[in-house]
Amino acid sequence: MPNLNSAFPTVRGRRLRQKPALRHLVRETNLSPADFIYPMFIVHGQQVRHEVISMPGVFQLSVDMLPQEAEELLKLGIPAVILFGLPAQKDPLGLENFAPDGIVQQAIRTLRKTAPDLMIMTDVCLCEYTDHGHCGVIEEGQILNDPTLEILGQAAVSHAEAGAHIVAPSAMMDGQVGAIRQALDEAGFPNTPVMGYSAKYASAFYGPFRDAADSPPQFGDRSTYQMDPANRREAIREIALDINEGADIIMVKPALPYLDIIRQAHDTFPNLPLAAYNVSGEYSMLKAAAQLGWLDEKRVALESLIAIKRAGADMILTYWAKDAARWLSE
Ligand code: PBG
Repeated sequence: MPNLNSAFPTVRGRRLRQKPALRHLVRETNLSPADFIYPMFIVHGQQVRHEVISMPGVFQLSVDMLPQEAEELLKLGIPAVILFGLPAQKDPLGLENFAPDGIVQQAIRTLRKTAPDLMIMTDVCLCEYTDHGHCGVIEEGQILNDPTLEILGQAAVSHAEAGAHIVAPSAMMDGQVGAIRQALDEAGFPNTPVMGYSAKYASAFYGPFRDAADSPPQFGDRSTYQMDPANRREAIREIALDINEGADIIMVKPALPYLDIIRQAHDTFPNLPLAAYNVSGEYSMLKAAAQLGWLDEKRVALESLIAIKRAGADMILTYWAKDAARWLSE
C-alpha cells in the first residue's frame, strides 16, 4: 500500500466525485427495493386501517385490506413481508398463535391467494399473543425456556400449514431454531426456511413496535432472554448456535446502533444470507425529527438503509420499504 498521505497533489480523491454519473459508477454499495422486507401488523375486524401513533405511516390492518397492500408492494418491487398478528384475546400461552383460524393464519391464506408472487414471512414469538407480554411461558415469575420451545414449534408449523414461506423465530429462547426445524421437518415442511433473529438485543428501540403489536411485557423486561447491548462476542456465539441448529438466514437486530455487529456477522459467516432489522425506534426517531422539520426524512432514511447494507446486510426489514422504494425510483 503506497502512503496515500504523501501522494497529493498527484492523488486527488475529489476527481471521482465530480458528477452524479461518475459517483454512481464508483459507488460501492447499492440499495434496491428487492432488499426490503416490509413488516405488517394484522388485526381482527373489517376495513381497519389504524395508524400507529408512535409510528406515523405504519398501520394496523385487517385481513380484507391486505390484497390492496400486497399489490402496492409488488408494484414497488418489494419481494417480501413479515407478518405480526394481534389476537382477539390474549392468554398465558398465546393460543391464537397456533390456531388454524388465527389472525396470522387468515392473513397468510389471503395473501397466498391474492398475491402469489409475494414472499410471506411470519414472526414466531409469544409476546403479541400472551397476556403477560413475555416471549415465553411463565411460571412463578420466571420465563421458562424449554417448555416455550414446543409452543414455538407448534406456531411455526401452524404458520407453515397456512402457507407461510419462511418462519422467523424472535423469542430468543435457547434452542428455538433447532426446535422449529425439527417440528417443521416432522410436520412435512422440510423446505420451509427458518430465519433466526439470531443476535437480538434487549433494546429500548423496540418501544414503538410494542404500541403497534400491543406487546409490552406486563412485568420486568426482556433482559433475561434478549442480549445485553454491551456484548459483541456473544452475538457471534448466538449466530453460530443458530447456524448449527439449521438457520437458513441469520439476523442482527436492531440495525443502526449495531452496525459493528452486522459487519462482524457478515465477515465471520460470509456463506449465509444476513438480514438486519431496522426497528421501530430507528424509524420513529427520524420520523419525529422530520415532522419537526429538523431532518430531511428521505435523505436520512436512505442514508440509514445504505449504511445497513454497507455494514454487510443482504436484506433489511424496514418500515420505510414502500417510501424508500418510491424514493429510489425517483
Ligand atoms: C417479538 C418482536 C419484537 C420486535 C420484532 N419481533 C419486539 C420485542 O422483542 O419486544 C421488534 C421490532 C421493532 O421494534 O420494530 N418478540
